[in-house]
Amino acid sequence: MKRLLSGITPSGDGSLHIGNYLGAVRQFIELAKTNETFLMVADLHALTTIQDKAMLQKNTETLILNELALLMGELSPSTSSGLPNITFFRQSDVAEHTELQSILNNVTPLGLLKRAHAYKDKLAGDVTEEDINVGLFSYPMLMAADILLYKPDLVPVGKDQKQHIEITRDIAGRFNKIYPTSLKLRGASKKNVFKLPEPYIPEEVAVVLGTDGKRKMSKSLGNIISIFEDEEIIRKQVMSTYTDPTRIHASDPGHIEGNMVFTYLDFFGDPSTSLGTRNAKVDELKEAYRKGKVGDIEVKNYLYESLLKYFDNARQTYRELVSKPEIIKKILRDGTEKARAVAGQTMTEVREAVGLVNRYSLG
Ligand code: TYM
Repeated sequence: MKRLLSGITPSGDGSLHIGNYLGAVRQFIELAKTNETFLMVADLHALTTIQDKAMLQKNTETLILNELALLMGELSPSTSSGLPNITFFRQSDVAEHTELQSILNNVTPLGLLKRAHAYKDKLAGDVTEEDINVGLFSYPMLMAADILLYKPDLVPVGKDQKQHIEITRDIAGRFNKIYPTSLKLRGASKKNVFKLPEPYIPEEVAVVLGTDGKRKMSKSLGNIISIFEDEEIIRKQVMSTYTDPTRIHASDPGHIEGNMVFTYLDFFGDPSTSLGTRNAKVDELKEAYRKGKVGDIEVKNYLYESLLKYFDNARQTYRELVSKPEIIKKILRDGTEKARAVAGQTMTEVREAVGLVNRYSLG
């Protein structure tokens, strides 16, 4: 059994779209079936862009509800059975994240962070260093702390987070080199404090394109398909999805490649509920589309119905959870307790390794 850890930031409005699902949550669900799983709501990360109290509160609540509904909709027989395989918690409930970040600050070269895409992309726009807060600049370090505290083997994420995992590995390597440690804690002689984590990024969902067919699906670009919105909104999002611009009439031969409706159908077309399963209905529609025997509206309607069916359990679980805050609190309470225990143990090792423990320590 391996250990995995991942997180989602409650940015945008905190809700999840099918890009988050395919790029991250679907992997959480598959991996959680056979591995020890830590999942965090990265609320401290959201502070880099959200400086409105009510918005942060709302976003965090929305993300917790969305993510739990997806996880429980697929993994739990009922909401009352909780979330047995997963340690689910909020980053800000485990103080060790910021404590470790403080220590990692000192083994991380400035240049490493200056090369981070998120920071460089910001500067490439019409933003100057004066407009960027230090939190955004040191975002990769907080993320490194998030990961290293739990010593995971795998970090399932979308491709946009890959560089952050590489930075994490770099920082962990530097720390281990500067502070080789003989841990008396477990009777081991020379042992590294940190494990170098591996990113887990399945190629077919590394970057899920949005309904415009051009850019990564992202709330801020307005090219998403929602999971928990009202049916009418989801229908509109599906109807606005990019298909084949060269096709004028339904009787013209159509293209499948780059046609986002078919890209999404490959994942959600009935009965493809497990990873990579092909299905006859989608293949039939593709064939008909290529020959000009089926119109865009018909395939879009099929995508809309497939999405509602695919997420039916999750949407039902969502409605149930809204009226049962005590279930959510229990999951968070249990998750936080477990996360604190693991993070606390790592911090004991870190404090010892760097020399913060001495004969006057309070113990
Ligand atoms: P965030 O909140 O931006 O995104 C959550 C996850 O969804 C993936 N994702 C996508 N994957 C493929 N195609 C898309 N269109 C798409 N949109 C989003 C992201 O890659 C991510 O995996 N910094 C992280 C959160 C975080 C974290 C961590 C992750 C904080 N601490 C520790 C892993 C480990 C973030 O902001 O992801």
